[in-house]
Amino acid sequence: MIIAVASDHGGFALKDIVKKHLLERGFKVVDLGTDSEASVDYPVYGKACGEAVASGKADIGIVVCGTGIGISIAANKVKGIRCGLCTSVEMAKLTKQHNNANILALGGRTTAPELAVEIVDAWLDTEFEGGRHERRTAMLDEM
Ligand code: RB5
Repeated sequence: MIIAVASDHGGFALKDIVKKHLLERGFKVVDLGTDSEASVDYPVYGKACGEAVASGKADIGIVVCGTGIGISIAANKVKGIRCGLCTSVEMAKLTKQHNNANILALGGRTTAPELAVEIVDAWLDTEFEGGRHERRTAMLDEM
């Protein structure tokens, strides 16, 4: 399983923590930047992660900006991407069970690192439920 990670400056510190955690869990990680806290534009990084997942270069992705909002909007502009911004473990489980989110978004300035890692684990370790949700995710993918 290859996981793409990307962030702007507001998400850089949390991206690094998440990346280390993913490597410790044995995943392959493709880091699409940014690589410092110097100011950059979140649409560039959300788009890069969306394209990596949509093209198959990565299986899934995790994006981080200050709130997770801007970078999730950017990732969702890429066809085939279902990016869910999560601020709780319950949301992380549901965005896999119901939305089959292929990218998880986190807020580096709004979610504590310990909780963010729990959210990542919940999202990774939860299965898509399929059934009626399959029809709905197919509708999203048509857009
Ligand atoms: C950058 O200052 C900030 O706007 C960005 O990280 C993010 O929160 C946007 O949604």
